Amino acid sequence: MITLLFNPAQIITVNTKGKNFKRGSELSDLDVLRDHSILVEDGIIKKLIKNKLLKDTKFDTRIDLTNKVVLPGLVECHTHLVFAGTRSDEFSMRLAGKSYEEIAKSGGGINSTVKAVRECSFEDLLKLAMPRVQKFIDQGVTTLEIKSGYGLSFYDEIKILQVIKELNAIFAIDIKATFLGAHTFPPEYKNDKNQYIKILTKEIMPYIAEKKLATACDAFCEKTAFSPAQVEEIFIAAKENNLTIKLHTDQFNSIGGIDSALKFDAKSVDHLEVINEGNIEKVAESNSTAVLLPGVSFSLQYNYAPARELINKNAIVALATDYNPGSSHINNISLIWGLAALKMGMSIEEIISAYTINSAKALNISEKSWKH
Ligand code: NIG
Ligand code: FE
Repeated sequence: MITLLFNPAQIITVNTKGKNFKRGSELSDLDVLRDHSILVEDGIIKKLIKNKLLKDTKFDTRIDLTNKVVLPGLVECHTHLVFAGTRSDEFSMRLAGKSYEEIAKSGGGINSTVKAVRECSFEDLLKLAMPRVQKFIDQGVTTLEIKSGYGLSFYDEIKILQVIKELNAIFAIDIKATFLGAHTFPPEYKNDKNQYIKILTKEIMPYIAEKKLATACDAFCEKTAFSPAQVEEIFIAAKENNLTIKLHTDQFNSIGGIDSALKFDAKSVDHLEVINEGNIEKVAESNSTAVLLPGVSFSLQYNYAPARELINKNAIVALATDYNPGSSHINNISLIWGLAALKMGMSIEEIISAYTINSAKALNISEKSWKH
């Protein structure tokens, strides 16, 4: 089947000059092609043809894209979209002046979603997740990352990862699972943290590796969650189980997560709302992608990550929604782009690079793309 995508106003490509990511000023460097059409054969782009040379071109169907823009597929590289329940009560508490961290310390936050997920069956979790995935597809997403992290027990973490596997089977896009068992400590292990880390590293991770239920391992390095030393224990097991590494870090406190992540060659360091000067330099010099999440800063009304400093210092910067029920109930990519432009000072070109090639780099898939 040959399809002609006829006469778009612009065809935008993230020309990487042979590299599979963009750092610093390279993020601004896009190619914009006009007066061309695109020939697609069995779902694969075969040729870009000058419109004035089209007359000998054979095709089965033609889609008129006059006045439209063709962009690369968007890569949404950081979501927690398999969840149950809402945290609307916490939203009201925050409006009344309580902070996200105070709510987490008093047993709410991530652990209130854990309670709802544990009470939810595989089937019901799947039903809740399906329209959320569709919403991303409707916005042009062709690869979507989803983290576990609201189960925090063998049974419930595996249940979430199996939901993600099923979503990948149902939808035509690529869906990548990340294991986030180290999201926070569940209430039953609050006083025996070592035991919980043992369950993560000795029981859950080997099972995930054997069943191929995730490709990456993430953790939350924060005063209310895991210390750098605990994160490193998790990362040692992740490496043993062939999972690539990512880290939520420097979201509220800078407690050493960046050093731990870089030591373990993390594919991405995510959040960075409170990253300090020294760590900006370290991230900028590394091969790790800085995944910035302006929806969190908007929702929790605090610092935006220093996108400009990171880009000016030559970092590989990506953007994502962080869609989750607590800190960023935002699955609207246009809003994320708007915040990145208006609140973080990123240009439209930088935002497009950050949401395509660099978010693919954060998922370690920038060499490959579509499943076919
Ligand atoms: O990326 N920082 C930790 N995890 C999520 C929030 C999860 C939640 O509040 O449920 C985040 O912001
Ligand atoms: Fe997150």
